[in-house]
Amino acid sequence: MRLDGVGALVAGGASGLGAATALALVERGARVAVVDRDGERASELAGQLGAGGSAAGGPGSAAPAAVGFEADVTDPEQVEAAVRGAVDAFGELRFLASCAGIGWGERTVGREGPAALEPFETVVRVNLIGSFNVLRLAAAAMAANEPDEGGERGAVVMTASVAAFDGQIGQAAYAASKGGVVALTLPAARDLARSGIRVCTIAPGVFDTPLLGGLPEQTRTALGEQIPFPSRLGRPAEFAELACHIGENEMLNGETIRLDGALRMPPR
Ligand SMILES: NC(=O)c1ccc[n+]([C@@H]2O[C@H](COP(=O)([O-])OP(=O)(O)OC[C@H]3O[C@@H](n4cnc5c(N)ncnc54)[C@H](O)[C@@H]3O)[C@@H](O)[C@H]2O)c1
Repeated sequence: MRLDGVGALVAGGASGLGAATALALVERGARVAVVDRDGERASELAGQLGAGGSAAGGPGSAAPAAVGFEADVTDPEQVEAAVRGAVDAFGELRFLASCAGIGWGERTVGREGPAALEPFETVVRVNLIGSFNVLRLAAAAMAANEPDEGGERGAVVMTASVAAFDGQIGQAAYAASKGGVVALTLPAARDLARSGIRVCTIAPGVFDTPLLGGLPEQTRTALGEQIPFPSRLGRPAEFAELACHIGENEMLNGETIRLDGALRMPPR
């Protein structure tokens, strides 16, 4: 699928991997709805992307290159409103990058006793149920598109984590939520095949985003050194490149791609 001129939505687009993907999409000429529970940052980034002088929304076009929407991915009405807003702004929605996510660390049984259930539920709600909520609503909008010359109506990229495969001590909730995203990928691709919509997932290793920004420099360097090659943290732009490639490569479907420099996480 050509990304030039398409309407795209990036959930969790106000920061980190999502923000890099929104930028890469605009650079390829897509028009992007930046959707985030932090509506202020989403609008601010959309303003910056829109002012970036890209071809999207350029001369002769009434559509802006980017618009921001405040929505919590777990909320059906808020996401539906954001999807509708994107379709209204761009005339269609053909690409979704679902990047919103949160972390949580707690052992299954700690010194104080069994892990609390509420944080587990919250992580699964945001990372797994939120991903499915955005997927189902965006895909329903894509299904109404005219197919392109290849019969394609849209493409979806979800974000898991290497924790889906090698979750570390304390990562039961996070790993379970991301494992759910991986497991969802193939059946969603099969469900949506008849509509000409592809679904893939990226499982990032360790990337240099605000999620890791709170860690001391020494810890961030140590995390990078664990990676066989290249021995450094991943760059958000590298995630964005792959997300865009998935959009562009028609043969990629129903697959989860690790993007991790051959990292396999140890127990701790
Ligand atoms: N950074 C990494 O090393 C890494 C590694 C593996 C997987 N991931 C995954 O990549 C994704 C992006 O992570 P990041 O590092 O860019 O983090 P980030 O914190 O920089 O960005 C996440 C964005 O998601 C938004 N968000 C969180 N919960 C939301 C909700 N309920 N509704 C709407 N928006 C919400 C946040 O406001 C934020 O803008 C996450 O799913 C994360 O689990 C990141």
